[in-house]
Amino acid sequence: MKAIGFRSLLLVFAVVACKTPERTPENAALQKAPTASYQDEIAQHAKEMLAKGRDVFRDDTFGSEEFWGGKLRLHEAIIGEKRGGVGPGVSPKTALAVGLKVDAERVPAAVAEGIKNGTVSLDDPANTVALLKANAVVGVKAFLEGPKAPSMGITCAFCHSTVDDSFAKGIGRRLDGWPNRDLNVGAIASLAPNLKPMADLLGVDEATVRKVLASWGPGKFDAELNLDGKAFRPDGKSAATLLPAAFGLAGVNLHTYTGWGSVTYWNAYVANNEMYGQGTFFDPRLDDKKFPVAARARFGHKQAPDDQVTSKLAALQFYQLAIPAPTPPEGSYDKAAANRGQQLFEGKARCATCHVPPLYTEPGWGMHTAEEIGIDDFQAKRSPDGRYRTTPLRGLFVRAKGGFYHDGRFADYQAVLGHYDATFKLGLTAPEKADLEEFLKSL
Ligand code: HEC
Ligand code: HEC
Repeated sequence: MKAIGFRSLLLVFAVVACKTPERTPENAALQKAPTASYQDEIAQHAKEMLAKGRDVFRDDTFGSEEFWGGKLRLHEAIIGEKRGGVGPGVSPKTALAVGLKVDAERVPAAVAEGIKNGTVSLDDPANTVALLKANAVVGVKAFLEGPKAPSMGITCAFCHSTVDDSFAKGIGRRLDGWPNRDLNVGAIASLAPNLKPMADLLGVDEATVRKVLASWGPGKFDAELNLDGKAFRPDGKSAATLLPAAFGLAGVNLHTYTGWGSVTYWNAYVANNEMYGQGTFFDPRLDDKKFPVAARARFGHKQAPDDQVTSKLAALQFYQLAIPAPTPPEGSYDKAAANRGQQLFEGKARCATCHVPPLYTEPGWGMHTAEEIGIDDFQAKRSPDGRYRTTPLRGLFVRAKGGFYHDGRFADYQAVLGHYDATFKLGLTAPEKADLEEFLKSL
């Protein structure tokens, strides 16, 4: 026994000796830990991730042209009959009216000049085509030449970017991460000549799909419709939610109004199952009977032969986490009142128990039942955890348009404050609520 024990011990030593790596010049250098060069590598990596992530966020369709162009044929309605599509085409004026934005930095100089001096008409669909060719329509990527032509896909920027109107209304410099609360996703989608793929997925007719799309209105989209098939709330109103901000998200644990998962979880989900890109997605929670449409379509088990999503997720997440919440413009709120409001927020009004500064959501698991926040549970129940996530409040001033809470049910600051005052019996006076409003505007 002893001899065997000694021999196996020897064997262990021998194995360990063999496993000791050779001292090549490279790893000898590493063992001496010249951390400077590795630090450089980290910094370089961060730079590359940021640049790649920005490109993906702004311009990557993830192969979604197979759906928007290939199946719905949306590009045909946009380019119009004269250019091989259908109908009159969409003029720049109409495109701007449904909330599409134009990136002024991508508008060819001659076209910009023409818009300014009136020789390029915003009533002519041909000029929409010119803007699309220049890739200047935010979040819309048209394939008008090359092997994929004619077709179109959408990018993340479609819903989560707007412009600063510096050139004209709807035309300006990009504001990545700002929700486009002018964008009428439903109106745009319903321009498509063929809505049968959506109708088939939902198990309804095309007329019903059009009715649902018309019910959303500007700044809204229903990211759960194609999971549970519920288009309207019990009170008959649309089940769509507001487009949320994609800025100020670093440090926040769970994303979406109902906490579906991390930023990268949701990105994979959206690229595959909302934009209808070509990728891989796994989530067996979507097999649950509360998601009959998703279960039937096997949304939680997607594996496209040519995965155009997965390799982009890391950089895409990195970029979003790098987008800071914007600072409210100078003079847009009263500073003294905001300071008093902050005391109330962290004291008497008890807001900071959930909206913990400086994240303004809970570090940890920031999920609450509908009852806890004094509203109905319709939207919460459309998610795996059945709860609402505490919304991070930085950059709130950007989201005032469209109202507050997931569906915009509180039209303005005073409405949301009135709701909390009543729900938590805070006994806030009118001047206190006014101070709290100034603080919310300062975030
Ligand atoms: C058609 C519009 C649309 C497109 C395109 C879109 N999103 Fe969204 N996004 C939404 C809506 C609506 C929600 C809210 C969903 C919910 O709460 O159920 C959302 C939620 C999010 C959130 C969570 C924000 C928060 O407060 O936690 C992030 C992050 C996000 N989207 C990033 C992206 C990225 C990245 C892409 C591209 C891969 C993308 N979105 C494409 C509409 C869109
Ligand atoms: C119990 C936790 C909790 C407390 C306390 C709380 N909130 Fe909230 N807050 C939430 C949740 C959860 C949401 C998301 C609700 C939704 O989208 O339907 C939210 C959303 C909001 C929004 C809407 C943000 C947006 O983008 O739509 C504002 C504004 C807000 N809270 C302000 C406050 C203020 C001011 C107070 C104190 C008077 C407060 N909250 C107290 C949990 C809380």
